[in-house]
Amino acid sequence: MSTNKYELVNLDTGKKSTLQAMSGTVGPDCLGIAPLAKDHGIFTFDPGFMATASCESKITYIDGDAGVLLYRGYPIDQLATKSSFLEVSYLLINGELPGAKQLEQFDHSIRYHTMINESLLRFFNGFHYNAHPMAMVSAVVSSMAAFYHDSMDNNNPRHREIFAHRILAKMPTISAAAYKHMLGQPFVYPRNDQDYCANILRMFFAVPAEDYAVDPVTAQALDLLLILHADHEQNASTSTVRLAGSTGTNPYAAISAGVSALWGPAHGGANEAVLAMLEDIGTVDNIPKFLERVKDKDGHTRLMGFGHRVYKNFDPRAKIIRDMCHKVLARLGRTDNPLFELALRLEEIALKDEYFIARKLYPNVDFYSGLIYSALGIPRSMFTVMFAIARTAGWVAHWQEMIGDPAMKIGRPRQLYTGPTARDYVEIGKR
Ligand code: ACO
Repeated sequence: MSTNKYELVNLDTGKKSTLQAMSGTVGPDCLGIAPLAKDHGIFTFDPGFMATASCESKITYIDGDAGVLLYRGYPIDQLATKSSFLEVSYLLINGELPGAKQLEQFDHSIRYHTMINESLLRFFNGFHYNAHPMAMVSAVVSSMAAFYHDSMDNNNPRHREIFAHRILAKMPTISAAAYKHMLGQPFVYPRNDQDYCANILRMFFAVPAEDYAVDPVTAQALDLLLILHADHEQNASTSTVRLAGSTGTNPYAAISAGVSALWGPAHGGANEAVLAMLEDIGTVDNIPKFLERVKDKDGHTRLMGFGHRVYKNFDPRAKIIRDMCHKVLARLGRTDNPLFELALRLEEIALKDEYFIARKLYPNVDFYSGLIYSALGIPRSMFTVMFAIARTAGWVAHWQEMIGDPAMKIGRPRQLYTGPTARDYVEIGKR
């Protein structure tokens, strides 16, 4: 990291400070603003963190104007075509692509950590059958902190590694248990002879009454979706994991906080909302009327799956997913998918519309992902859970990076206070 100096002078008091702008390997410089509070007694004000870098990180880089996404320097399109989700997870967490032996050991360790304690399974009985699976997953992941409380020392690198393998391995098992609970079907145990995605599909779709063969096309498509969702630098859920983790809390509790943050429709919940939106629009003829609703300043309708805080150009993941949608639907023999046709037309019309052009609103990763999940047989309420399974790799990588940094500090933002100034308590009879 190199630095440039900026002189700051308060014109009223004449007080001077030197601010340091830090340059990363690529991307905009970041100004270190600590002297503002120390020397001048002022804070910066940046609601929604529009211009604030909350940490230094070596994991993922996004150039939102150019539509670039790199995991540890590797372009997402190369990883999507050449890698696997487990290899990408290893890369995100450890910083380098694994050698053959390292990948084999990692894969083996993940396969042998997939089972969850039987008591955890009983937690699901406490939920009504129609509970949202994100609520169940968040709660059960959080309760893992109770199972791994005494055996987890955040300062111990080996403990951190075991945690990483455990949560990556168990997230699909917990997710599948939530799904089976919703269906009222018996839980299907993971199998060590199945790879990561095959295991997910078996645990979701197998029933004891008959044999289940994993469709390799479906497993491959799922693996690609997991790669595309694995990390996205300091997004809302990852920042939540970092903030919760910065207190030194048990990492399963921090991941649970990430699951909850991901659930919202402005973030990971968008994939579920896109499908609801497409069904609501119904036919191509209704697109103009729907877009009028979206553009109405007094309304609350958004074109779900469009827009992104960082991408002001195509989200590179959306392009890959759209192409994949064509291929997957063709290979699964579902080419006449009316919702996919509707999505393609909606995208085409929106991209020519002045409202979306002026605001640089493009399809994001979730515009098409729900359509693929549907084609793979995954129900809508489970879309965001699939996202959570994938993003666990990123959450773990960021938690590890933060906890392993000796300069880590608790995350503690300040505020612009606009409430009442000090006043005396008034007895209840006199109010
Ligand atoms: N539909 C219609 N208008 C939109 C949309 C949209 N999807 N997104 C942004 N805008 C408009 C806003 O109304 C605003 O217009 P204005 O300047 O006239 O007031 C302008 O574009 C800027 O929007 P902001 O909300 O300020 O942008 P922000 O960066 O805060 O929000 C977000 C980004 C939350 C993703 C937003 O684009 C959105 O709500 N999109 C739909 C939900 C979605 O797809 N989320 C998934 C994001 S990707 C992910 O998390 C996996």
